[in-house]
Amino acid sequence: MSAAIVRIVSELRSIVAAWRREGLRIAVVPTMGALHEGHLSLVRSALAKADRVIVTLFINPMQFNNAADLAAYPRTEHDDAAKLATVGAHILYAPNAADMYPPGFATSVSVSGVSDGLCGTFRPGHFDGVATVVTKLLLQTGADLAFFGEKDFQQLHVVRQLVRDLDIPIEIIAGPTVREADGLAMSSRNARLSLAERNKAPRLAEILVQTARQLSSRESVVRALTVAREAILAAGFSRVEYLELRADSNLAPMLTLDRPARLLVAAWLGETRLIDNVEVALPRAEALHQAAA
Ligand code: PAJ
Repeated sequence: MSAAIVRIVSELRSIVAAWRREGLRIAVVPTMGALHEGHLSLVRSALAKADRVIVTLFINPMQFNNAADLAAYPRTEHDDAAKLATVGAHILYAPNAADMYPPGFATSVSVSGVSDGLCGTFRPGHFDGVATVVTKLLLQTGADLAFFGEKDFQQLHVVRQLVRDLDIPIEIIAGPTVREADGLAMSSRNARLSLAERNKAPRLAEILVQTARQLSSRESVVRALTVAREAILAAGFSRVEYLELRADSNLAPMLTLDRPARLLVAAWLGETRLIDNVEVALPRAEALHQAAA
């Protein structure tokens, strides 16, 4: 059976209200469609924790800071609905832009701190767009749980912060990054890579993993990041936007590995911008010390 497609928020609300009367637990997985295994893994996690799962599909114009990127974004609703049916999601909520942002729409949700730096520097306005639409989607669905991928690690922090600050009664659950067999993080933008670029792309994750290992073996942060940046360029990437070590808990910049951390990167391969991140484990002695504290 295919997932029901709902476009109107009042319709969505009456379905959710009926579920609530039955005492069901409801989860939401926000997406922009072009669904791949990364999205579907979130849907499966949601199905494991909730009785009903709503997947939202909305290509949010407010979060694109580049008109060409928005125009080129894949639109594959029919295939997406078929994939969701296979996995067992209950509703595909795919509102129209004119309903999400009617004439006169004037509100923006802006999360400071965690939105600054990293993608926030290179995509001005992007996280205001994400925060605004995610706030709307969480309020429209009224779900108990919402699932987001670690692939977009900064976005995950932005969402956690806005939910805390605005007292939205929902639990945010993170899912690990799903990768292709060769390590490339799955992304709808990977389809834009030429064959030659696709062959180079997995080097990004390889270099991140290698650098994370070196950092955990007490290599200096500045030195490890310099070497990694050179390696990314040598692998054929045209530009490294950022490559940074940040605290796992709040994205604070780190110059020494004294807390659980993330290594985050954005780099261009031809005309395609790729982002990725990996966990950086503490050196063994520090990890034992922190566990004992
Ligand atoms: P989108 O890029 O479609 O991603 C939807 C969700 O899938 C996000 O939580 C993202 O982190 C997760 N995801 C993407 N690739 C993944 C992968 N390889 N492994 C695990 N999870 C992955 O992110 C957005 O849409 C939008 O910004 C949105 C939150 C829907 C707001 O418009």
